[in-house]
Amino acid sequence: MSTRKRILSGIQPSGTIHIGNYFGAVENWVRLMDTYDCFFTIVDLHAITVTYDPALLPQRVWDAALDNMAAGLDPARCTIFIQSHVPEHTELCWLLNCVTPLGELGRMTQFKEKSERERENVTAGLLNYPILQAADILIYKADAVPVGEDQAQHLEFSREVARRFNNRFGDYFPEPATLIGRGARIMGLDGDTKMSKSMDNFIGVTEAPEAIWEKLRPAKTDEARKRRTDPGEPDRCNIFSYHKLVTPDDGIRDIAAGCRGATIGCIDCKKIFHANLMRVLDPIRERRQDLAAHPELVREALDEGARRARKVARETLDGAKKLMGLL
Ligand code: TYM
Repeated sequence: MSTRKRILSGIQPSGTIHIGNYFGAVENWVRLMDTYDCFFTIVDLHAITVTYDPALLPQRVWDAALDNMAAGLDPARCTIFIQSHVPEHTELCWLLNCVTPLGELGRMTQFKEKSERERENVTAGLLNYPILQAADILIYKADAVPVGEDQAQHLEFSREVARRFNNRFGDYFPEPATLIGRGARIMGLDGDTKMSKSMDNFIGVTEAPEAIWEKLRPAKTDEARKRRTDPGEPDRCNIFSYHKLVTPDDGIRDIAAGCRGATIGCIDCKKIFHANLMRVLDPIRERRQDLAAHPELVREALDEGARRARKVARETLDGAKKLMGLL
């Protein structure tokens, strides 16, 4: 039995992962793999809470598995699995539904945003989304959850669910801590909204280098810098915030000085960022090609992950049911 502290985190299968997911969460997951007992899940049951195409979902789940493994999640050092393959999550979710007051759910930011977009299809599943997320975490009695900043509210909610359960039925679930990655909130290429698949403002982790350049070239910089000869302010520039993720400190200093002194143009600055980003993404893209050539290994890893996860999940679920008076 491992004496390491445990973490769990999850990612939606929404096609390729983007650099917001990577620097906000996945990079941190890879780093934590050797110090924590890690569970990572692809949350297909969360993906069906909004309008989706069932014909496309299997490929999306598969792509998410390949991308995350290529990004460094190593099935030999962590438990990686597909959420719906561990049905105990949904069973615990029901139990937690019954300790959660309705009012809180409607106040969650993500629910408000998504129900705005989904107008015609605001399901009970969308409202209950954070309870399933709490179940994902609590079923492993996770000590901590590494995520980007946008998930902080859901994690506070998960802690409240744990507290409420513990108060009513006895001390059982630890309250999971939030671990925010170094790219806590990466903005999209538009510079105005958070990077996300739904806003189509993203750089995909496994996109071709040329395709990434085509997206970067027109991307917003400091709007006050209209001509090459105008001095710019790096702290107003979204591309400069990207540099901080991949460019060494001395390079950052040169770019900031070059921008302020107008000795470097925005296109040159983007070229340097592109080259530095590719140093991170090239090996991921290559590993993904290798994995795609051996689908049986990925499938085996996911099966083994689900098996390991179910063992832990079953035990926690049985304990919770007992405390709640279920025979
Ligand atoms: P999802 O799929 O939207 O995002 C996966 C992870 O990527 C982080 N992230 C970002 N970080 C910084 N900047 C961005 N622009 C950015 N975009 C995404 C997210 O914070 C997240 O860590 N509800 C969750 C999935 C989930 C989950 C869980 C997470 C389900 N169950 C249990 C943790 C624990 C979600 O939609 O993440």
